[in-house]
Amino acid sequence: MSSSINYSEKIPNNVNLSEDRTLQRALEQWQPNYLQWWQDVGPEGSQNFDVYLRTAVSVDPQGWAQFDYVKMPDYRWGIFLNPGDAERKIHFGDHLGEKAWQDVPGEYRANLRRIIVTQGDTEPASVEQQRHLGLTAPSQYDLRNLFQVNVEEGRHLWAMVYLLHKYFGRDGREEGEALLERRSGQADNPRILEAFNEPTPDWLSFFMFTYFTDRDGKFQLSALAESAFDPLARTTKFMLTEEAHHMFVGESGISRIIQRTCQVMNELKTDDPKKLREAGVIDLPTMQRYLNFHFSVTIDLFGADESSNAALFYSSGLKGRFDEGKRNDDHQLKGQTYRVLQARDGQLVERDVPMLNALNEVLRDDYIKDSVGGVERWNKVIEKAGIPFRLKVPHKAFHRNIGGLAGLKVSPEGRVVSEAEWNAKVGEWLPTDEDRAFVGSLMGRVVEPGKFANWISPPAMGINRQPVNFEYVRFG
Ligand SMILES: [Fe+2]
Ligand SMILES: [Fe+2]
Repeated sequence: MSSSINYSEKIPNNVNLSEDRTLQRALEQWQPNYLQWWQDVGPEGSQNFDVYLRTAVSVDPQGWAQFDYVKMPDYRWGIFLNPGDAERKIHFGDHLGEKAWQDVPGEYRANLRRIIVTQGDTEPASVEQQRHLGLTAPSQYDLRNLFQVNVEEGRHLWAMVYLLHKYFGRDGREEGEALLERRSGQADNPRILEAFNEPTPDWLSFFMFTYFTDRDGKFQLSALAESAFDPLARTTKFMLTEEAHHMFVGESGISRIIQRTCQVMNELKTDDPKKLREAGVIDLPTMQRYLNFHFSVTIDLFGADESSNAALFYSSGLKGRFDEGKRNDDHQLKGQTYRVLQARDGQLVERDVPMLNALNEVLRDDYIKDSVGGVERWNKVIEKAGIPFRLKVPHKAFHRNIGGLAGLKVSPEGRVVSEAEWNAKVGEWLPTDEDRAFVGSLMGRVVEPGKFANWISPPAMGINRQPVNFEYVRFG
C-alpha cells in the first residue's frame, strides 16, 4: 500500500478503495448524507468562503501539510491510514506476541464496534458545538484555524465510518448513519458523551475546549493506536497528527488572551476585574473559572475510575495504555494495583484497586500530567508581565460527574466541603451566568486581515510561515 493519496477518486483515499466495489458503493452512498449533515449543522454562514487550509496529500510526515485556498463545502474529506507493517505483533494483553489482527475477531466484534462508535461520535459533535463561532471570530487568522479544526474533525468521522463500513457489515453501515443523526445537546437524540453535549458559545470556551477536550482526543487516540486491531491502530495514528494542531490552537489562543489581559492590567495598573471588564478584556479569575469547568468536564470523559470494561478492553488487546510500547513492564498487569481516590467520612482517601480495573484512571492521570504543562506555559506569560496571579488545574475530585468521585462537593484545592459552602463559593469556582454573558458580550466578528479583537493579542507568527496579516479567508 502506498502512502500517497489518490485525489482523482470521488472519495480521496490511500486504501485502494476502487478495488473493493461493495465498500466503495456503500461509502459513496454515505457521502451525500455526510455533506447534507455538514450543510445542516456544520460551520454556519461559511459557504462560498475560500479558506487557506491544509489538506493531506500523503501520510508521510513531509507530505501531508499542503496549503491552499479551499472553498469550504468542497474540502476533500477522505480515508487516510498510516502504512501497515505486515509483521506487526500484539504487544499487550492476553494475546501478547501474536500477530496483529487484520480483521475483527468475532468474540470482540461488539466491543470494538462500541469503541469505534464512541470515538466517532465525538468528531461530528465538536463540529456541531462550534458551528456558530465563525460569526464572532476575533480575526481572519482565528477564523481559518476554527475551520481547519472543523474540517479535520469531519475527516475523523470519515476515518471511523470507514472502519465501520469495511469491518462491521450491515451493523457498521447503520452505525454510520446514526453518527449523522445524533446531535450535540439535543435532548431526544444527544451525542454519546456528556462533554460533547455542552455548548461552545464563545471563543474562550472554544480555546479551552481545543486545549483540554481535544487533548482527551489525543489520549484516547493514542490508546487506540496501540490496538491489536491493526486498521484501527493505523487510522488513529494518522488522526493524531491532525490532533496536535487542534491543541496548538487552544494553547496559543488562551496564551494570547492572557497576554492581552496582562498588557491592559499593566497599562491600567489594576487587577480589578470590574475595571478590566470595562476595558474590554477578560480578567484572569474568569479565565480560571473557565479552566476549572473545561478541565473537570473533560476528565470525566475517561470514564469510571474502576471499570471491568477497561480491564476487558486491555486484556483482549482492543485498547492499550498511552505510550504502551514505551513502557517497561509485563504489558499484562495481572496482580498489580493502582491507587484511586474515594471519599470516606468526609475525607478523600486513596485506595489500591487491581490495576487492570483502574486503566481509565491510569489514562486520566497521564492526561492530567500532560495538560498541566500548557498551564505552566500560560503562567510564564503572566509571570513575564510581572503579575503575581497564577492559573492552576483544579483537583481531580473537583466538579466530577462520573465514577467514585461523582457528585462529591470538593473545592478546586481538593477539600471536601459542605453543601452550604459549595453553594456559597461555586460562583468563584465555575463560570457564572454573568461571566458567560460578559464573555459573550465581547464576541464580535473582526474580518480585516491583520486586525484582532480587543480582548486577544495577535499571534507571534502566521500559519505556514505566512504573515499575520495574510488574507486567510476570502469572503465570497
Ligand atoms: Fe478528532
Ligand atoms: Fe480534534
